[in-house]
Amino acid sequence: MLAADPKLRMCLPTGSTPRPLYEQIAGQSDFSDATVFILDEFGLPDGDPARCSTMLERDLLSLLSSRPKVDRLDPMAPDPEAECARFASAVADGGLGLTLLGVGRNGHVGLNEPGSTPESTTRRVILSQQSRDGLNRYGAERDTDWGLTLGLEEVLSSAEIWLLVRGAHKADVLASAVRGPISSDFPVTYLREAGNVIVWADESAASRL
Ligand code: PGA
Repeated sequence: MLAADPKLRMCLPTGSTPRPLYEQIAGQSDFSDATVFILDEFGLPDGDPARCSTMLERDLLSLLSSRPKVDRLDPMAPDPEAECARFASAVADGGLGLTLLGVGRNGHVGLNEPGSTPESTTRRVILSQQSRDGLNRYGAERDTDWGLTLGLEEVLSSAEIWLLVRGAHKADVLASAVRGPISSDFPVTYLREAGNVIVWADESAASRL
């Protein structure tokens, strides 16, 4: 899929999970005609190491020989609600061919934290403690309690979704995602209703399936 459609419109996550995949595809794929939408963003100033745009630039975009068109949620926009509406409309105008997702320990996808439903649209959100703790792992220079995220509704509209899960610390998360009750308490479970989802898990993440 990544190589098959040069005009692919894809939504990409950041964080530690997709890094090996990005390393692998960076030298091999031509994304010059592709469009990338960055899945989510923290309420941090431009250039902070934990900004999703900073991470995607470092882990993928800067490694590509030709840059795709990139659209992102700007947390510093004067009107976050208007920025979310602009982004959702850019996504809808042509749709998403492929969305890659990681998953948080609390079952979030993007920043669709527990409480999110399939009707949750692109919006400003308050971060869970788990997401705030993640900021330290990403080298944040300051704390924030909010972010912007593509909504579950828009995620679920993607033609194809790849859920990436890596590491033993995600084994319980993946088991709950696949077998637990479908519920807003663990938003990743809504992917089971989508029917167009491929799970890519390493052996340790899949050890409790
Ligand atoms: P991680 O984050 O890839 O850094 O584990 C995933 C997430 O919290 O969505």
